[in-house]
Amino acid sequence: MSEDATVLFGREDIRRRIEELGRDITGDYEGRAPVLISVLKGGSVFLADLMRQVHLPIAIDYMSISRYGDATESMGRVRIVKDLEVDVGGRDVLIAEDIVDTGLTLSYLITVLESRHPASVEVCALLDKSVRRITPLPIRYVGFDCPDVFVVGYGLDFQERYRNLPDILAVQDLSALSADPDLLVPYLKGVPRAVPGPDAGRERAT
Ligand code: IMP
Repeated sequence: MSEDATVLFGREDIRRRIEELGRDITGDYEGRAPVLISVLKGGSVFLADLMRQVHLPIAIDYMSISRYGDATESMGRVRIVKDLEVDVGGRDVLIAEDIVDTGLTLSYLITVLESRHPASVEVCALLDKSVRRITPLPIRYVGFDCPDVFVVGYGLDFQERYRNLPDILAVQDLSALSADPDLLVPYLKGVPRAVPGPDAGRERAT
């Protein structure tokens, strides 16, 4: 049977990796109070889990950015829709990104943040689609290297759907999903199992 999506990173692997990232961040920022910033909406799930693994007196804040063009293609034209409320001047800033693809969004964000004279700006990306990178970027903390496939779940969407999937799924056929954006709705109730064949349930002689 052909599947519409497969689990690329399961919830347990994500949980374990975020624990490790939190441990690294806690150690590296010992004695400091970084501001963790997330880019809405995708990064909100990651930040919610990451911040509880960072055992420091952190602040959190959110930015919202709008991209021009199709959601599945980064067009490199972005603008701030919601800005930070925290003043990052003199603070250590850590951007918690769900996924870095071409890197255009993040390089724009870093430029904006650096113009506000923070003490430092670093990036923690859950997924790094490094093969797609256009703008070279230093990513200090990476959760997983991500193959060049379209992924949904754990905050990542397709046309605003599927952010609430607890696992990260790789979409097998993006054009099929574009034709029917509800294609993966069954996955919201759990990853469907293979359809049982005619022999299913029958005892086998060994
Ligand atoms: P970049 O500017 O190309 O690095 O784009 C980063 C943004 O594109 C991410 O924050 C996501 O919102 C979106 N994006 C990139 N790849 C995917 C994907 O596979 N699934 C869902 N969103 C993605």
